Amino acid sequence: MAVEAATLAERCRHRFPIFEQQVYINSCSQGALSDAVRAAYEQYLDDWDEKGAPWEYWVERQEAARSAFAGLVNAGTDEIAVTTSLSAGVSALASGLRYARRSKVVLTDWEFPTIGQIWHAQESRGARVAHVPAAADGTIPLEHFEQVIDDDTLVVSITHVCYRNGAMIDVPAVVELAHERGALILLDAFQAVGSLPVDVKELGVDFLGAGVLKYLLGSAGLGFFYCRQELVERVWPTQTGWFADENIFAMDHTDYSPAATAARFQSGTPPVPAIYAGIAGIQLMREIGIAETREHVLALNAHLLDGLDELGATVVTPRAAEGRGALICVKSTDAVELVAALDREQIITSERDGNLRISAHCYNTREDVDAVLGSLQRHRNLLAAT
Ligand SMILES: Cc1ncc(COP(=O)(O)O)c(C=O)c1O
Repeated sequence: MAVEAATLAERCRHRFPIFEQQVYINSCSQGALSDAVRAAYEQYLDDWDEKGAPWEYWVERQEAARSAFAGLVNAGTDEIAVTTSLSAGVSALASGLRYARRSKVVLTDWEFPTIGQIWHAQESRGARVAHVPAAADGTIPLEHFEQVIDDDTLVVSITHVCYRNGAMIDVPAVVELAHERGALILLDAFQAVGSLPVDVKELGVDFLGAGVLKYLLGSAGLGFFYCRQELVERVWPTQTGWFADENIFAMDHTDYSPAATAARFQSGTPPVPAIYAGIAGIQLMREIGIAETREHVLALNAHLLDGLDELGATVVTPRAAEGRGALICVKSTDAVELVAALDREQIITSERDGNLRISAHCYNTREDVDAVLGSLQRHRNLLAAT
């Protein structure tokens, strides 16, 4: 595995200029900028110059983005909406549900703030929101879901990999339970897509939201929303716009006729520059290999975890490989200061919730991990002891 691992980073690292200056190990916040994504942005400007207002071409680019994301998660193109953020897709869904026959929305302690905020906003429309608590070790056992999901539950909203502690949920197990009890299931896959294979059919989810700026190497401004084919026409988003219409070129302001596809979860003018970048990022990530990246990062993280143990650090991410994503989180006495101390040594990480976040990706090497460990050794006073 170690030989393959070295090969993967060697194969792609030269495409990310940031490594000439820094040890960038912060892909849970944003992926490193590649030559391909920079070229895509330049292409956008060239096309603007050459084509003027190429609306039809932009619509075609949007369709290309839908296909790229559909291919990535094994969905049909008609099951994908192109959005400006994960929040936009989830809000469109939330706006289109009726909290009547079933009114309960179940979410977990791991959710990104946007998910909690969107579902709580539905309380004014009749939703009742219940939270599934995490256990003391940070994981969320299936029994906790069993206690909260009931026959009034309309939708269960879970996150694939938690942005605060790096823990990964057993998605198929929660899907099975939710479906058994007649509930729909939404997956926030933002911290998973690009870092490990995500297959909507295998996972069995009904809806999925994600963005491209982390492990998919795209930029801010582009998100995707997946809706399982059979459900598309059962949801009528009231948060909408002309790019959700059955025929955007009809320019009809006299009624609401949403697309018969998941495009009904879209809104206004698509984020064209970010679409150029997002397509390039997804393509590059698929060329590099997502399954290979998962193996590579697991090997790097095994080395990281050994080193953290030697330092006596408190790792809050679960130890079992199948229980974590790409992100490793370490408890700190002052996480903001620790990130700043690493930054002064040209090592880029981030922090959330009192934890240092270290997130390797395809381009990181064992030397990057050693650089992090060396710096943590020097700043041991900022690590919270076990
Ligand atoms: C798990 C997770 N969900 C959602 C988001 C953000 O979503 P949005 O595209 O709505 O800003 C992030 C990004 O930081 C995230 O880590």
